[in-house]
Amino acid sequence: MRTFRTDGSLSSRLLALACALALVAAQALPAAAQDRGITVQVDKPGAAIPRTLFGLFFEDINFGADGGLYPERVKNRSFEFPDPLMGWKQAAPGDSKGTLQVYDRIAGTAVANPHYLRIKVDEPGKGFGVTNEGFRGVGVEKGKEYTFSVLARGAGGSPRALRVEVLDADGRALGETRVSGFTPQWKKYSATLRATGTEAKARVNVLVEGTGALDVDLVSLFPKETWGGRANGLRPDLVRLLKEMNPGFLRFPGGCIVEGRTLEQRYQWKTTIGDPEDRRLIVNRWNTEFRHRLTPDYYQSFGLGYYEYFQLSEDIGAEPLPIMNCGMACQFNTGELAPMEDLDHFIQDAIDLIEFANAPANTKWGRVRAGMGHPKPFNLKMLGVGNEQWGPQYVERYKAFARVLKAKYPNVTLVSSSGPFPDGKEFDYLWGQLRQLNAELVDEHYYRPPQWFRDNAGRYDDYPRNGPKVFAGEYAAQSVAIASPDNRNNWETALSEAAFVTGLERNADLVRLSSYAPLFGHVEAWQWTPNLIWFDNLRSYGTPNYYVQKLFSTNQGTRLLPVLIDGSPKNGRDGLYASASLDEGSGEVIVKVVNTSSSRREVRINLAGAGGVRGGKALTLASSDLKAENSLDEPTRLSPVEKPLTATGTEFTHAFAPNSLTVLRVAALR
Ligand code: AHR
Repeated sequence: MRTFRTDGSLSSRLLALACALALVAAQALPAAAQDRGITVQVDKPGAAIPRTLFGLFFEDINFGADGGLYPERVKNRSFEFPDPLMGWKQAAPGDSKGTLQVYDRIAGTAVANPHYLRIKVDEPGKGFGVTNEGFRGVGVEKGKEYTFSVLARGAGGSPRALRVEVLDADGRALGETRVSGFTPQWKKYSATLRATGTEAKARVNVLVEGTGALDVDLVSLFPKETWGGRANGLRPDLVRLLKEMNPGFLRFPGGCIVEGRTLEQRYQWKTTIGDPEDRRLIVNRWNTEFRHRLTPDYYQSFGLGYYEYFQLSEDIGAEPLPIMNCGMACQFNTGELAPMEDLDHFIQDAIDLIEFANAPANTKWGRVRAGMGHPKPFNLKMLGVGNEQWGPQYVERYKAFARVLKAKYPNVTLVSSSGPFPDGKEFDYLWGQLRQLNAELVDEHYYRPPQWFRDNAGRYDDYPRNGPKVFAGEYAAQSVAIASPDNRNNWETALSEAAFVTGLERNADLVRLSSYAPLFGHVEAWQWTPNLIWFDNLRSYGTPNYYVQKLFSTNQGTRLLPVLIDGSPKNGRDGLYASASLDEGSGEVIVKVVNTSSSRREVRINLAGAGGVRGGKALTLASSDLKAENSLDEPTRLSPVEKPLTATGTEFTHAFAPNSLTVLRVAALR
């Protein structure tokens, strides 16, 4: 505490006494008089908050696409895995006998899916054929309908019919259907199967009745219930979870999957559009990435391809944000480079993609889009050049992309990479270079311990405002360590992210986009944890981290409001973090407060400059157990609780629970 030096005179002693009394009086005053508590400067609205501030990062990792969002039940449906019968086994009920043989339709030519299976029945018994194990099982729900379809042709003898049956682990039938009438020509057959029971881990038998040979390909069992009821549509419970977040953008298709372990295995959007049957399957780069979580049966069928990504973005009201390979394979793997003289090919891919998304339906690529069912443009406004690249090799390639793309499409904002880490030599180098190049949006990634997130809530407070904007493109608190299989989606990680996200929001004039990563994880088939949403073959749930994201994204507001905690813009002292915004549509003031301390905090809230208060509500996400998690059985154990606010004036006290995120929505009068 400051001390007073006096000369001993009466006047100076009186002055000292007055000062001392004033100090005592100040200490006795109610908290607000000393600027204690949280002050929201309602009368000083700041920058507009971009609609894109909170969005989604999608990557086909953890069976996020095949086996997840893309609800095909049959794994390796076109026999194109390198082991063409992976996922399939012979099925010979009732002592039937026969042989299975995989053929290559036109070996060595450019057919997307050359393999097919010949089922030859010698002794029919109860039918002879194959059984498919699905994606860690086949999920069916009682009363729901599934379309079985197959490309087939008779190949000798008289195969009468294909019987399709779904069976549980004990061999009990959960539904059956048949197709018949085969000819020597390839033809598509389909029939409806209605499930008579619910089972997440069933299997599908595909059995030839009669004697003779039948060739089959593209064997599919697809739920009729998809998002929007579309054929080749997406899993509704998962899309619903996304839509309910009201995301500002959807980044796709990754992530490292963009890069591939080798350039040959990179993501190439053109092979993912058109008829799903003509999309060429490739290995999923996460297949063998982690020795502790090998998933040798992980391939990309591209049933969920670029058209579906654009459609999904539209469905959930999010701006599409595709990330393009920039001639670099994953630098954690081979780091292969496309030579600069070959880069035009990669740049042309980006140009064609913009055309596919935005050009009128009477142009080359617009016609392709229209032919798939979407004559109207998708209105693409952002594009990523490379995923998590670094080094001068990246800068060189980014420059080449930016030169061409910005000249041709000045209104398409380009996203550039700052590498895999949130600091360090590479990060500083890239930021330096990207500043000089006037880059537009720099993608930062942080997979760090929970403490890092709490400590970095002020990360952007002092970032320069005159250069590129920031895309917090991938982040998640790691409870153990990055890529550790023991990481958990527990409350400590989510709460720490919440503290950090107040900082993203407070700096929304600079941070234009942000997304948690990765998005999805199949509870049995994952490679990476933590993830925002977990699912099995029938059920899904949002983690506490999901509810943190959702609280921010559904309570975003349109304009920033300055916030002071105990009179200071600094956050984190005594575990208190806050951000605030104004929703200009509803007139509400939205205040987010994170209390990372283990005690309940009675905090004075001052809506400075507001004319009055007409009530409001408080949404609270809290748990005293930092290890608490949600699960398939308790999907909403940690989820927001809503209560009315009793505040009647522009100054009120709110009790913030220990370890909590609270959103106050106050109908404030001007
Ligand atoms: O989110 C998982 C991976 O983490 C992403 O694919 C990659 O960009 C990052 O290293």
